[in-house]
Amino acid sequence: MGETFIPLADLRYAAVVPEVPRRAQAPQGLLADRLGRPLRDLRISVTDRCNFRCSYCMPKDVFDKDYRFLPQTSLLSFEEITRLARIFIAQGVVKLRLTGGEPLLRKHLETLVGQLAALRTPAGDAADITLTTNGSLLARKAQALRDAGLQRVTVSLDALDDAVFRRMNDVDFPVADVLAGIEAALHAGLAPVKVNMVVKRGTNDDQIVPLARHMREHYGPQVVLRFIEYMDVGATNGWRMDEVLPSQEVVQRLSAAFPLEALAATAPGETAQRWRYRDGGGEVGVISSVTQAFCRDCNRARLSTEGKLFLCLFASRGHDLRALLRGASPEGTAWSDAQIAAAIGQVWAGRDDRYSELRGALQADAGRGERRVEMHYIGG
Ligand code: GTP
Ligand code: 5AD
Ligand code: SF4
Ligand code: SF4
Repeated sequence: MGETFIPLADLRYAAVVPEVPRRAQAPQGLLADRLGRPLRDLRISVTDRCNFRCSYCMPKDVFDKDYRFLPQTSLLSFEEITRLARIFIAQGVVKLRLTGGEPLLRKHLETLVGQLAALRTPAGDAADITLTTNGSLLARKAQALRDAGLQRVTVSLDALDDAVFRRMNDVDFPVADVLAGIEAALHAGLAPVKVNMVVKRGTNDDQIVPLARHMREHYGPQVVLRFIEYMDVGATNGWRMDEVLPSQEVVQRLSAAFPLEALAATAPGETAQRWRYRDGGGEVGVISSVTQAFCRDCNRARLSTEGKLFLCLFASRGHDLRALLRGASPEGTAWSDAQIAAAIGQVWAGRDDRYSELRGALQADAGRGERRVEMHYIGG
């Protein structure tokens, strides 16, 4: 059975159904892609919906009341997600991140967290389970998530100033509620909490120092603030290079206010470059996917809300794992875990994505290829 290209009705992005190798056996040892990169980090999107409309991610004029989000029947169930996570963990994944859209909009998410927390790596350890949220519902849910086995949380927060924040989320959501979410997460034992700020020059770059000051003064090392270069993900955000503030400039502005020193990387393939306040006020990071690509060691894969595996944040085509979960072999038997693992191993073995490294060359080619996937659909 070769790779089939299927233009399905609910298909907003192209996808192929992975081939299940004959006499499939689960791969032995760590998977490696064509550039020798292992698969260690799986990001799972649990909903394509969000209650915010950040213009760099879900601009209001595209994601309006007529936009058709995925129907309930398309979503992977918690059991399907857990089955796939078990297979991925057996093949070397050690880190699971739940994302969206806004993952806390998915009902009973703590039930899924509990199921994922029970999984074990081949070495017998639990996976590192974390969540990326806009923080709007976190004050209500932090404790239940923690009790279910969530280990960490990352909160997106683009400004400290209420007016700037309301403009950026574009639904008039107050910053105080997100700050309350961060406090609740710390109180529930989810420390250190990471806070991610996407920086857009001319929109919120005046918030860099105030946000850093607030986090340092209120939480010290309990909160790690990271500044993210605005990226050209998807096809709807009208990205322009002149709105990117290079991380180098972020570090300059920060260190003028609070002297910094660089920290060594803790793990290969890390997204953030880490810095420490010299006065002991904690740690900050910069994520420079535009000016300093980090594809070389990229060990991340993304599973969309309806079960398509994407090998790069900038991919336009997914690999339809739901078709394997819900489908059957030509003989009519359901695919086994070993068969699905073998299919995933084959997909990963073919991976050569490194979009950020090639950005310049690919942008010149823009418009000719397939439409790139949107971030609210595969998650950060
Ligand atoms: P921690 O393990 O908690 O430190 O998470 P992380 O460093 O993997 O980062 P996180 O998931 O919080 O990602 C932060 C931001 O970095 C995302 O929202 C994206 O903007 C960007 N990012 C994360 N992964 C990738 C990636 O694989 N490629 C690119 N280009 N950007 C990424
Ligand atoms: N550029 C950079 N980061 C983005 N995110 C979403 N869209 C973009 C973009 N265009 C990230 C942010 C946000 C998370 C959910 O996704 O980090 O916090
Ligand atoms: Fe904003 Fe995150 Fe929602 Fe996208 S998913 S609109 S970045 S809150
Ligand atoms: Fe990985 Fe693609 Fe991001 Fe490069 S651009 S780091 S390959 S997800």
